[in-house]
Amino acid sequence: MKTALTEMFDIDAPIFAFSHCRDVVAAVSKAGGFGVLGAAWMTPEHLEQELAWIDDHVDSKPYGVDMVFAAKAQTVTFSSSPREVLPQTHIDFINGLMTDDGIPELPDTEVADWYSNYASNLSFSNEVSERLLDVAMQHPIKLVVSALGLAPQHVIQRVQGAGIKFGAMIGSAKHARKQVEAGVDLIIAQGAEAGGHVGNVTTMVLTPEVVDAVAPVPVLAAGGIGRGRQMAAALALGAEGVWTGSIWLGTVESELNPDLRDVLHAASSEDAIVTYGYTGKPCRALRSKFTEAWARADAPKPLGVPFQSILSGEPFRRAERAHRKDWMTYSAGQIVGQITEPTTVKQVVYDMISEYVDTMERTTALLED
Ligand SMILES: Cc1cc2nc3c(=O)[nH]c(=O)nc-3n(C[C@H](O)[C@H](O)[C@H](O)COP(=O)(O)O)c2cc1C
Repeated sequence: MKTALTEMFDIDAPIFAFSHCRDVVAAVSKAGGFGVLGAAWMTPEHLEQELAWIDDHVDSKPYGVDMVFAAKAQTVTFSSSPREVLPQTHIDFINGLMTDDGIPELPDTEVADWYSNYASNLSFSNEVSERLLDVAMQHPIKLVVSALGLAPQHVIQRVQGAGIKFGAMIGSAKHARKQVEAGVDLIIAQGAEAGGHVGNVTTMVLTPEVVDAVAPVPVLAAGGIGRGRQMAAALALGAEGVWTGSIWLGTVESELNPDLRDVLHAASSEDAIVTYGYTGKPCRALRSKFTEAWARADAPKPLGVPFQSILSGEPFRRAERAHRKDWMTYSAGQIVGQITEPTTVKQVVYDMISEYVDTMERTTALLED
């Protein structure tokens, strides 16, 4: 296939894959697409390990990283344990419901491990992201994507100055215009069907709006895309490729544990709901007793970023340890209803391209006499 973005990155198919899992990133790039590693909330040391691994396994194919830059990002520092900055009402609410539902408490050592080794990494700021960028730019990355807001000018210029493309994810045409004024090379227009943090406008409406608003800057359509018919629709809407996330969760390469895989396979499109309970921002994730708890009339108002994510860590680990699938959740978009059995990254890429070709043949035939 040939689009502005296959040309820009010298790839075979305009299929961009976001994943927190290095195996998925390397496998997508090797299959002819473009893998992008979600690096936000990693430590610089962790990111270094992941990128070194990708370099060893990606057969010199291009890949990128995604991190959080935001003009208004605030630095959150913890004087001692992050648990001390959380309101006791919130800790008691969610943990109390789990106890009432028969889920054993976590051993103290595991609670301490969560707060001391992981939770403090959830405090994000542009300074933290720049340290991650320092690491990423030591590797042969071809794209840096910023999610959640405008990256500082010096960051965009630094990345582009090294010959690396800079992309921005947005959920509205207004934000797309601002990103283009800031000088980004490509836009990811993410519709409301997507997994993770979402806005309100659907991919079908958002994509052409953004394409028209930022032309000739290329646009990747995101949200609800996992098969060839959806890729054909995205390209028909004017996108130069697709940016996908949820579909890779169902591959054997993904990061999900066996319990979460069962939850994923059992979920229908309607189970991918929007919750504030996960991170404090609207996030599309799998419905469970955890997400339903935060929608109860007696629930305290979810905390802001990053505090709600810090709060969520303990209940997530508790559900995992007890194998309580009814309490497990994970970011996933409405495409989840089409993920019904295990597959591989290579198979997903193959199926997408082959269904895209069938779709183009079928729709082109509509024009014939
Ligand atoms: C499990 C999961 C985690 C995600 N985490 C992030 C993230 O950290 N940063 C980001 O920019 N996008 C994140 N996203 C959104 C993806 O980049 C992508 O826009 C989205 O998955 C596209 O919609 P789809 O899920 O329908 O394919 C996440 C998506 C999923 C499914």
